Amino acid sequence: MTPRVRVGIAGTGSYVPERVVPNSWFEQQIDTSNEWIVQRTGIERRRYVAPDQATSDLCVAAARRALEASNTKPEDLDLIVVGTMSPDHFLPACSTLVQKVLGAKRAGAFDVNAACTGFLTALSTGEAFVASGRARRVLAIGAESLSRFVDQTDRTSCILFGDGAGAVVLAPHDECQQGEILRASLGADGEGYEYIHMVGGGSRKPSSHETVDSREHAIRVQGREVYRFAVQQMTESIRQMMEGHSYDELCLLVPHQVNRRIIDAALERLGWSDEKVMVNIQEYGNTSAASVPIALDEAVRAGRAQKGKLVVLVAFGAGLTWGGSLIRW
Ligand SMILES: CC(C)(COP(=O)(O)OP(=O)(O)OC[C@H]1O[C@@H](n2cnc3c(N)ncnc32)[C@H](O)[C@@H]1OP(=O)(O)O)[C@@H](O)C(=O)NCCC(=O)NCCS
Repeated sequence: MTPRVRVGIAGTGSYVPERVVPNSWFEQQIDTSNEWIVQRTGIERRRYVAPDQATSDLCVAAARRALEASNTKPEDLDLIVVGTMSPDHFLPACSTLVQKVLGAKRAGAFDVNAACTGFLTALSTGEAFVASGRARRVLAIGAESLSRFVDQTDRTSCILFGDGAGAVVLAPHDECQQGEILRASLGADGEGYEYIHMVGGGSRKPSSHETVDSREHAIRVQGREVYRFAVQQMTESIRQMMEGHSYDELCLLVPHQVNRRIIDAALERLGWSDEKVMVNIQEYGNTSAASVPIALDEAVRAGRAQKGKLVVLVAFGAGLTWGGSLIRW
């Protein structure tokens, strides 16, 4: 058997669209308030794509930054994996547009849909390709344009989501000498299939006038059920990733930016302070698959990932799905 190749994160990048949508914008549309949103979620503003932008555009902008940071040319890429639930089109895959625009001539390309766990799923997939020797350079992206899929009349969900993209370039650790992925795990529990759901537009309920009129192409969230699951799963995933390691070895925890209260509740269960946690939910809201890679990139660029220390990434989302990764930076 071919020995496993050690895999590293050679570079990170992210991009958010320019349009800033503050909480006050929703006060004009629906029965809500800035105070409620900040107190219940920690979100102060989020970004929305421009009318002529779509998810692949966000992917390309984030990818270019990750390619530059990792000193990788597009033609060096063997594979592009995009984690998204809001692709430009349902056919073909968003990643093929990214491949075209970047000019990644040698790269294979596919999308993965694991909702908010999309980036961790793309990362885990890319890691496996490099580890097995089937690829050397893999671009793993998490990207969403969720503003296109929210029901702006549903106050329990529309205030939560934002748009953006984050990317990493994976390479053999021998080549990049940083960010070695020590653990990558994925999990699912389809019992929670309907907690976060888009009812219309698929093979179960194809698009029709009726599905459009009843807003069945928008994301529906059973917030309280997800909240309970999220606190428990975030705590459990962090414990799993840290097994056998001490808190002192950790320099950075990057959790899915779903709700500030969920992050704080998980920290309380772990008995941790927030000093090592990356939180940017106040700026971007929940960008689903993009949330972890955007937060990781911002933390890396701020110098919070220290060489030789541990970085933990955790996410969960619709499915239900969850994932984690332990990285030695
Ligand atoms: C959605 C979420 C912020 C709601 O917070 P919460 O503290 O659980 O609030 P509740 O759902 O219990 O609602 C409390 C009250 O606020 C009201 N409310 C809901 N959204 C509101 C809004 N935007 N503005 C004002 N009031 C709102 C509710 O109607 C409810 O009123 P009631 O008590 O009269 O019924 C929270 O549950 C959450 O973050 N869940 C996870 C989100 C998620 O699924 N994300 C996607 C997957 S990762």
